[in-house]
Amino acid sequence: MDNGKLMFTTDLTKVYPMGGQSITALDKVNLAFAKGEFAGLVGPSGSGKTTLLNILGSLDVPTSGSVEVLGEKIETLSHRKAAELRNRHIGFIFQTFNLLPVYTVYENVEFPLLLLGLGASERRRAVGEALKWVHIDDRARSRPAQLSGGQCQRVAIARAVVKKPALVLADEPTANLDAENSHRILDTMAAINRDLGTTFLFSTHDDKVILHLRRKITLIDGRVAKDEPGPAAERRP
Ligand SMILES: Nc1ncnc2c1ncn2[C@@H]1O[C@H](COP(=O)(O)OP(=O)(O)O)[C@@H](O)[C@H]1O
Ligand SMILES: [Mg+2]
Repeated sequence: MDNGKLMFTTDLTKVYPMGGQSITALDKVNLAFAKGEFAGLVGPSGSGKTTLLNILGSLDVPTSGSVEVLGEKIETLSHRKAAELRNRHIGFIFQTFNLLPVYTVYENVEFPLLLLGLGASERRRAVGEALKWVHIDDRARSRPAQLSGGQCQRVAIARAVVKKPALVLADEPTANLDAENSHRILDTMAAINRDLGTTFLFSTHDDKVILHLRRKITLIDGRVAKDEPGPAAERRP
């Protein structure tokens, strides 16, 4: 890895073919992230935020340029190796929560640990701990349909962090939440960032979320237009 960087991109470019034309979603993006950052991608709709998160999360590959995450070059990974990197080291949080509706809260959070092949007692301990981090341990037996949006997103955070990943990527995690729940979600993520050292990178165009950022990266038309300390930069980690 490069100087202890958790991940970095070099002239990362993504072009989507569109009929006879093409759309440049990312245009020579150079960004580096250290361990323990709490950073946000902001910028108008269509500026490339989701595309960047997907490539950093090894869900997609660049058209040109390179991306290194935890010492792995994303563009060279086989599907199996990319899945292994995600299962072990990366947690995802989505705008629409993406919980499995037929499973309980407990089972949803346990799922990533089953993929890792952890034993039953280790799983029980880790799930119990993760549910406490997000203050939803009293709803372990509920199903997603019985919970509010804010509660569902807290479950999704628990699912993302239960394996103690190095990196959590969140795509507009508060887009479907009201103001109070948005702040609670950000406070929960900031506490996990502080207590476990987990690196968080999320996209947002929500002003309430921007308040919590310690680094604010503005994308415009697939380019890094600004990269500056966020409003929470001076707060103690
Ligand atoms: N699968 C795709 N096929 C074609 N174009 C896409 C695809 N995904 C994203 N785009 C285009 O790439 C640009 C960046 O999109 P996106 O990364 O979703 O931006 P954001 O998340 O900032 O709204 C947009 O112009 C979008 O229409
Ligand atoms: Mg998006």
